Amino acid sequence: MRFLLSAPLLAAAALALPFSAPRALVPREHPSLEGTHTLPFVTPNTEAAHTFAPMDHEPTAILVTCMDGRILPEEAFGIKAGTVNVLRNAGGRVAGAIPSILVSQVALGSHEIIVVHHTDCGMHKYTDAGIHEALESHYGNDTARPYTDSIAFNTFTSLNHSLHDDIRLLRDHPLINSTQVSGWAYNVTDGLLQRYV
Ligand SMILES: *[C@@H]1O[C@H](CO)[C@@H](O)[C@H](O)[C@H]1NC(C)=O
Ligand SMILES: *[C@@H]1O[C@H](CO)[C@@H](O)[C@H](O)[C@H]1NC(C)=O
Ligand SMILES: *[C@@H]1O[C@H](CO)[C@@H](O)[C@H](O)[C@H]1NC(C)=O
Ligand SMILES: *[C@@H]1O[C@H](CO)[C@@H](O)[C@H](O)[C@H]1NC(C)=O
Repeated sequence: MRFLLSAPLLAAAALALPFSAPRALVPREHPSLEGTHTLPFVTPNTEAAHTFAPMDHEPTAILVTCMDGRILPEEAFGIKAGTVNVLRNAGGRVAGAIPSILVSQVALGSHEIIVVHHTDCGMHKYTDAGIHEALESHYGNDTARPYTDSIAFNTFTSLNHSLHDDIRLLRDHPLINSTQVSGWAYNVTDGLLQRYV
């Protein structure tokens, strides 16, 4: 399914705050992906496999960040293979990453948690109500409501507050080791990271 937001749609949605064009968010059609793959790995990856070497997986840290395709965490943050569990969702919100954080810390033995949100984030431009509306408009109220009522999208209005809120969530969670946590903003314009908390 193609739930990708094209740049023009994002721009249109950004101009129309608070989210007055919900249809821009979810396309009406669910076109078959047959013959329209956008990723190179759908062709046999035998070439890449030639140089492939299996590696150890001993994560020492967890990185929670946004699913935004402009962020390539391994490149941008110098992550060595096998050392970090990178958890991604829309916005890079901790609330959506908790099950994986618990697995990483308790089963895999990681400790440190690094939260990275970023400038020009879509989840800064939308509201939870706007996304709920978009889903209701697309699928109909009766079908969508039982789900939208219980899904928090964790949109936010301030990079600073989203980072502080997420670090507080980590510190308040009784099952999370928050000895070593930090919150950073990644600037998608100049590629620089700035620590907020
Ligand atoms: C869905 O709910 C919204 C908000 O309550 C309402 O404005 C809209 O008319 C409803 N749509 C349908 C098709 O019932
Ligand atoms: C950032 O957020 C924290 C907590 O939400 C607040 O105490 C602080 O004043 C904020 N800083 C700025 C520069 O807005
Ligand atoms: C919590 O994390 C710190 C490092 O961030 C580590 O030294 C400590 O052993 C961890 N505690 C537990 C109970 O895993
Ligand atoms: C991001 O980087 C651009 C270019 O350096 C700068 O103009 C902008 O103020 C930065 N944004 C933030 C939030 O620091």
